[in-house]
Amino acid sequence: MKIAIIYSSVTGNTKDLVEEISKECHKKFQHVDIFPIQQFTFSFLDFYDVIVIGTYTWGNGDIPKEMVPLFEELNKQERKRLVTGIAGTGDRFYPHFCGAVDRFKDLLHAKTNLAVTLKVELLLQETDKVKCKQFVELVWKRLEEQVLLKK
Ligand SMILES: Cc1cc2nc3c(=O)[nH]c(=O)nc-3n(C[C@H](O)[C@H](O)[C@H](O)COP(=O)(O)O)c2cc1C
Repeated sequence: MKIAIIYSSVTGNTKDLVEEISKECHKKFQHVDIFPIQQFTFSFLDFYDVIVIGTYTWGNGDIPKEMVPLFEELNKQERKRLVTGIAGTGDRFYPHFCGAVDRFKDLLHAKTNLAVTLKVELLLQETDKVKCKQFVELVWKRLEEQVLLKK
């Protein structure tokens, strides 16, 4: 099974988060790729069984501008067999905590087989590492369910 993690991070919080998720993925998946958004090509989308998106939130609950093309690409067509997860960091100081995670969550729920959502406040803590493990377990479970349904 193949998984891609696509993310954007300016100050490193989201990078730490997706690296922890990636570490957990290596325990289950044969093939794990991690891409900063700038290195991801949309044609790769069809190569993977699972896509995990990692994003921070900008402005007033907004998706960072470098993530908008990915959002628009995923919005173009349904991919109901693509299992997805969305994870992100934000700051509760802002009125819409992790707004970008919520925007992607709604999209992925409508267009893909969304398995799990995770919001982390700023820098990853030890308690968040448990959540990263659970995140990957839920993704894996959803994949298994999908394989069973196909049979
Ligand atoms: C100008 C600005 C606007 C932000 N707006 C939000 C916001 O609306 N909601 C939120 O939860 N966090 C907001 N944040 C906080 C960032 O999303 C948070 O610091 C995040 O962890 C940064 O991720 P990174 O370290 O991966 O770049 C904002 C930060 C800045 C500097």
